[in-house]
Amino acid sequence: MSASGAATVRQFEWPDYDRVAALWSAAGREVVPRAELAAKLTRDPELFLVAESADGITGVVLGTYDGRRGWILRLAVDPARRRRGLGRALVAELEARFRELDCPRVKLLVMPDNEAGLRFWRELGYLPAPDVLCTKPL
Ligand SMILES: CC(C)(COP(=O)(O)OP(=O)(O)OC[C@H]1O[C@@H](n2cnc3c(N)ncnc32)[C@H](O)[C@@H]1OP(=O)(O)O)[C@@H](O)C(=O)NCCC(=O)NCCS
Repeated sequence: MSASGAATVRQFEWPDYDRVAALWSAAGREVVPRAELAAKLTRDPELFLVAESADGITGVVLGTYDGRRGWILRLAVDPARRRRGLGRALVAELEARFRELDCPRVKLLVMPDNEAGLRFWRELGYLPAPDVLCTKPL
């Protein structure tokens, strides 16, 4: 757990779900269904974090670790609370938890037209890589 300004970053708990889903929706992100999250939480629950302010959950980030690489997914901050360091605080706490797992490198995906997202990640030291994303539903 860590604190940034008036917010605390802590592990997700199920009562947070509706607010987290609303944050993802407000940020235009796909909402991860409860069943998918339940499966994720059987592996590395300490990597699913929320930022909590006095009036509730104001940010979220979902980390995963496959034993070789870490992934940062679904970062979203309440549109009314942006540019106050919440995104930075969520990522800093997640990075600290990855380090505790001896995770040597983290990756993430940003849509190329997400200028704010790209600036945010560059500011935190994340540089674009030339890889092309390939995907297939199973
Ligand atoms: C990207 C996002 C998570 C940033 O959250 P945030 O809490 O506003 O970010 P922070 O306040 O911690 O910003 C840290 C730094 O990143 C940079 N930054 C953040 N938002 C920025 C923006 N809109 N434009 C330019 N730079 C930005 C700034 O350098 C900022 O520091 P500063 O405010 O002192 O100048 C938030 O805008 C968001 O939820 N966006 C929608 C979802 C999304 O795009 N997620 C990330 C893609 S995976």
